[in-house]
Amino acid sequence: METCQQLEQHNALVFFLNGRKIVEPYPDARVNLLHYLRQKLHQTGTKEGCGQGACGACTVMLSRWDQTSSTVRHVSANACLVPLCSLYGVAVTTVEGVGSVQNGLHPIQKSLVDSGGMQCGFCTPGMVMSMYALLRNKAQPTPADIQQAIGGNLCRCTGYRPILDAFNSVVSGCPLGENCCQNQGGQEALEKQTEADGKSEKEVCQAQDPIFPPELQLSSAYSSTRAVFRGESGVWIRPVTLTDLLDLKAEHPSAPVVMGNTNAGYRMKIGQLSSDVVIQGTYIPELRATEMSAAGLTVGAAVTLTELENILTDAISKTNENQAQHFCALKKMISEFGSLQIRNVATVGGNIMSAESNGDLSPVLIVTGAILHIASKTTKKEVTMTTEFFCGSWKISLQAEEVLVSITIPYSKKNEFTVGFKQCQRIGFDRSVVNAGMFVRFHDNNQLVDELRLCYGGDGFKRCQARRSLQESSRKVMV
Ligand SMILES: Cc1cc2nc3c(=O)[nH]c(=O)nc-3n(C[C@H](O)[C@H](O)[C@H](O)COP(=O)(O)OP(=O)(O)OC[C@H]3O[C@@H](n4cnc5c(N)ncnc54)[C@H](O)[C@@H]3O)c2cc1C
Ligand code: FES
Ligand code: FES
Repeated sequence: METCQQLEQHNALVFFLNGRKIVEPYPDARVNLLHYLRQKLHQTGTKEGCGQGACGACTVMLSRWDQTSSTVRHVSANACLVPLCSLYGVAVTTVEGVGSVQNGLHPIQKSLVDSGGMQCGFCTPGMVMSMYALLRNKAQPTPADIQQAIGGNLCRCTGYRPILDAFNSVVSGCPLGENCCQNQGGQEALEKQTEADGKSEKEVCQAQDPIFPPELQLSSAYSSTRAVFRGESGVWIRPVTLTDLLDLKAEHPSAPVVMGNTNAGYRMKIGQLSSDVVIQGTYIPELRATEMSAAGLTVGAAVTLTELENILTDAISKTNENQAQHFCALKKMISEFGSLQIRNVATVGGNIMSAESNGDLSPVLIVTGAILHIASKTTKKEVTMTTEFFCGSWKISLQAEEVLVSITIPYSKKNEFTVGFKQCQRIGFDRSVVNAGMFVRFHDNNQLVDELRLCYGGDGFKRCQARRSLQESSRKVMV
């Protein structure tokens, strides 16, 4: 095992499950949440289908206290891809915490029973959790929101119509509206309200949702101090400063920088990434930052795709049509990317650095001329994204100790147009069979082509730029 003086000390992993505090003194860096729930805690409501993020049977809700916005952020995620060690300071809600026959069904569960929305019931806990996470974020979702929320949940026997009917019929939210105890100081507020009304907690808080643990909200230790976990198969380190991350990478160059783990998890399983040390990169402020400047829109490498979609929406609203072409093309690509559970945890940096030949963001980023900001302990550099950056599937032309910090997507200009295309077996759920990014600049409002950039990717072939098309189309009329 790699040694490091700083690693001699270690922490116990602390997280909450359905309101209950879990302390794991020696969490294993290779164990995922699904395995831990089912094998260690015997919480078998969360089901195991594919084991690789593709069926949604293992969907849970992850909630974190966001220090910057002072709000709780809830996302749905596939437990089979969530590393146990990444849960430090996280509140996990599983179907057991939402409702049960013994303790009363949640309105979401009741709606499925009433509408005939399940047969064998295997997909049901995952469906319930996807809908539950949606309602915790948006009290009055539209039918399109519901469809998107369960887009990553497969049902093999009932069919989706009764499930959608059930969820569309759910009257959501607490009757207290904005004054719901979930929004107003948690348990303390609930107690005050029960005292004032002379009612039981169940009568006051009809949702009976687990309240976000005050300990996670009050203690900054969970988000602002380095954590080291030591388990059977190695050491998991969660730095919270860029300097610490770069020092660790210099000391352990082969250690993966795990973000959403939607690619790294699989590669570790098949031995593609082997190291006794795993570094979690999701809490570094520079990797989480977003900025609009004269150069364009800069987003940190640890920004998730769900967050990037919102950031792009905001950037599009702040720019004019000429400037926003690249942002629109990228946003469209994200809307067709994986499932919501994947987009909620997968990061923009992870997508670029995993260098999959069919990665969906890279073809668009390449044709926009996006700039990558790279750092190591001793160097800092800016690299314009081209196909040469990728030297094969899962390989990039960077040193092992280098880390992607952020990406700048430039503004487009007048007469420039950008699009992204994706062909896959299931839109909004699946990886590409073929994808493309296309950019054209016309000569001063006529149809003569000044510049054309075409980049293709796909399953099983090397990403390429169609450079001859560029030469042949130069100053030609487009038809
Ligand atoms: C079910 C499923 C569906 C998917 N659908 C799609 C799809 O539609 N389109 C698509 O393009 N991909 C898809 N993927 C692939 C994957 O989700 C993406 O590539 C994702 O963006 C990876 O991001 P991540 O944060 O999970 O990276 P991780 O898995 O955490 O990391 C991936 C690799 O990048 C390295 N890395 C990450 N960040 C950095 C950094 N800042 N600096 C240095 N190295 C870094 C890690 O060390 C690791 O080697 C899918 C995956 C699954 C499981
Ligand atoms: S078991 Fe299929 S997504 Fe996790
Ligand atoms: S009810 Fe059987 S898989 Fe959905």
